[in-house]
Amino acid sequence: MRGPIDAVERSAAFAARLRALCARDGLGRGRFWESDLLAARLPRAEYDLVFARWVFLFLPDPVAHLRKLVATLKSGGLLAIEDYHRETWALVPRPPEWADFLAADHAFFASQGADASVGSRLPEMYRRVGLKVVEVVPTVKVGGPGSPVWRWVTTYFLSVADRYAQCAPLTVESTARLRRSWLAAGRRPASVMIAPAVLDVVGRKPGGGRARPGTRRARKRSSGVRLR
Ligand SMILES: C[S@@+](CC[C@H](N)C(=O)[O-])C[C@H]1O[C@@H](n2cnc3c(N)ncnc32)[C@H](O)[C@@H]1O
Repeated sequence: MRGPIDAVERSAAFAARLRALCARDGLGRGRFWESDLLAARLPRAEYDLVFARWVFLFLPDPVAHLRKLVATLKSGGLLAIEDYHRETWALVPRPPEWADFLAADHAFFASQGADASVGSRLPEMYRRVGLKVVEVVPTVKVGGPGSPVWRWVTTYFLSVADRYAQCAPLTVESTARLRRSWLAAGRRPASVMIAPAVLDVVGRKPGGGRARPGTRRARKRSSGVRLR
């Protein structure tokens, strides 16, 4: 689809980066709401496509946020959300603390009223808000020490380890052991990291025609909102 991209972003740092990217995307000047999604005064029935990646796992009331986004779609418009199903996450060889780590990961998001694995609940939520589920496409990245996926999830773990140590059933001691096992696994070439699955969940708002990319109609209906 061609046309200006509107965006919602509440973090000043992310918003600055997003503004810079949008300014050189060649699609024209879009609108920008630097606020919480629920507080943004978004237009109704205007967008062909709404996209959000790694936002819904932070939201305490995902259905209310979905309703807000669905209201902005034209009939026939698409909602595409990328979010996690964290249960695939595995480190091989498996440290004894792994089950506690996954439980603490879940508890960390649950303590904010959110769900780290919200991606796999989206199809059911889409139906509740009146969207027809078009597709659910998983991506599970796998790699050994030094690979991009290893670096990605290891950087994440090291950045949150101190906070996760406060989330039962992990403790300060078990988190320290896990950290040592994780870093030791990174020095063994045969180790494997299986990342949390990312699900692309696409739903269509009923009614209207279907704007296909590249058609005259699609170009005419040229606006979208992206949440980053
Ligand atoms: C992990 S970052 C993902 C950033 C980006 N979407 C990406 O895929 O790289 C989570 C983003 O969600 C945004 N966010 C979380 N809750 C939000 C809310 N209620 N309204 C708007 N943005 C929100 C944060 O400001 C942050 O930019």
